[in-house]
Amino acid sequence: MTVSEVQERNPLLCGSSGRIGEVLIGETRQVIEPATLVIFGITGDLSRKKLIPAIYDLARSGQLPPDFDLVGFARDGANAETRLREAVIAHARTPFDPALWETLTERITLVQGSFDDVDAYARLAAQLSALDNRRGKPGNYVFYLSVPPSAFATVCDGLAVVGLNRSALGWRRVVVEKPFGHDLASSQALGFALERVFPPTSIYRIDHYLGKETVQNILALRFANGMFEPLWNNRHIDHVQITMAESVGVTGRAGYYDGVGAARDVIQNHLLQLLALIAMEEPVAFDADSIATEKIKVLSATELHGPLSETSARGQYTAGVQNGLPVPGLAEEAGFPTDSVTETFAALTVGIATRRWAGVPFFIRTGKRLARRTTEIAVTFTPPVHGSAATRAAAVSNVLVFRVQPDDGIELHIGAKRPGEGMHIQPVSLGMDFRSVFDPAPEAYERLIHDVLRGDATLFPRREEVEWSWRVIDPLLEHWVGGGRPEAYSAGSAGPVSADGMLARTGRAWRAL
Ligand code: BG6
Repeated sequence: MTVSEVQERNPLLCGSSGRIGEVLIGETRQVIEPATLVIFGITGDLSRKKLIPAIYDLARSGQLPPDFDLVGFARDGANAETRLREAVIAHARTPFDPALWETLTERITLVQGSFDDVDAYARLAAQLSALDNRRGKPGNYVFYLSVPPSAFATVCDGLAVVGLNRSALGWRRVVVEKPFGHDLASSQALGFALERVFPPTSIYRIDHYLGKETVQNILALRFANGMFEPLWNNRHIDHVQITMAESVGVTGRAGYYDGVGAARDVIQNHLLQLLALIAMEEPVAFDADSIATEKIKVLSATELHGPLSETSARGQYTAGVQNGLPVPGLAEEAGFPTDSVTETFAALTVGIATRRWAGVPFFIRTGKRLARRTTEIAVTFTPPVHGSAATRAAAVSNVLVFRVQPDDGIELHIGAKRPGEGMHIQPVSLGMDFRSVFDPAPEAYERLIHDVLRGDATLFPRREEVEWSWRVIDPLLEHWVGGGRPEAYSAGSAGPVSADGMLARTGRAWRAL
């Protein structure tokens, strides 16, 4: 189908400019095919906060497929339209446009039923084929499982029973959200349950960090520029710090978070993915297979540094003050037992057993209710070793910082001479803010949903990546079992004291929060 045919068939959702309906990939333009998106759990939290607003924003920028339909599958469909509209008003990136919403809702239908109700899947199949017939579509479906992982297998089996997992004409894709298990064994079981029903190439695992523009820029910075790669190794890099600090707590999330904790929630996935992008070798092409191959290699060479009692830390926030306001500790949050052993802060040290990285520690930390919100990767270079005693004394460690959020950008810390007499060196920073150079980037979910619709799996971790990541952190999770309540830290602080000790032991310090 040509671009103009696409626009004719769906003018409002597909926009009207020459660029709409097309995606530029390298030198070739691809036209996105007609498709139907089915969201299981459409009235759930993730769908309301991220998915529906992202679909609205895609509609607004004319990036939805031609003849797009959205079918929601939900147990409780009462007032669905109102709930989704409110979600768009509250969470979409762009302002609410009633006319656009009206057009979009004409494309939204609902199938009501529970995930284990076989008849509901038959109704879904009938609804999908009615939409295909009405619009002359070939039957391209994306099944988005915005449901707890315990329901993944049930939904996949339900789809298989009515034959929705395969098609002679159209394509089928399934999207799953983390957590992909709670350890290696459960993750393998989950992978098996999905692959029993869908071929591996049809499974898209969402890690929304990979949809963030600054994260994708790691590869651009490393490989599109000549000056970094020669230094990107253990001869020139002293250590790497990966920090994901959040100021929010886990209010309202007990059902998911208690028993999961910070390491499973974000280190196993988001932060090890950042590590893989920072440390991987150059891919032979910027495509899904080549990038996955390199990420898998680096994750399979990643291992925890020990002894774990000295190279890791875990903490739980207690009541404190944030932005001048008192906030409760985890034990006071609704739904958490007062003696919960769930960690809200986790830090660990890993190494990568390759010639490039041998001997370079990677320090990773994350926490809730910390002093401020920041996600960044800081690469600290070794200070110069040659020169006179005087220049050695004045030498600084250069630090290259990828600021993922907020204030996404890149900064390089160097030493410069302070004006005046003598050679007094002062650290200064060279910086680039993405927002001052580029137009606002799409939200991660916009980018990722669009990629699924056009069949580009580059930004989605493969099963092997997920499993290698569990292999990295499983020994730490086992080490923590039976360790009782994690170390307390006050909300609004930089985390537990032992996290500082962990770096101090190596003669280094965390970057200030
Ligand atoms: C999610 C975690 O994956 O990422 C949350 O489950 C966390 O606990 C969130 O708050 C952070 O995402 P972002 O995009 O705000 O950094």
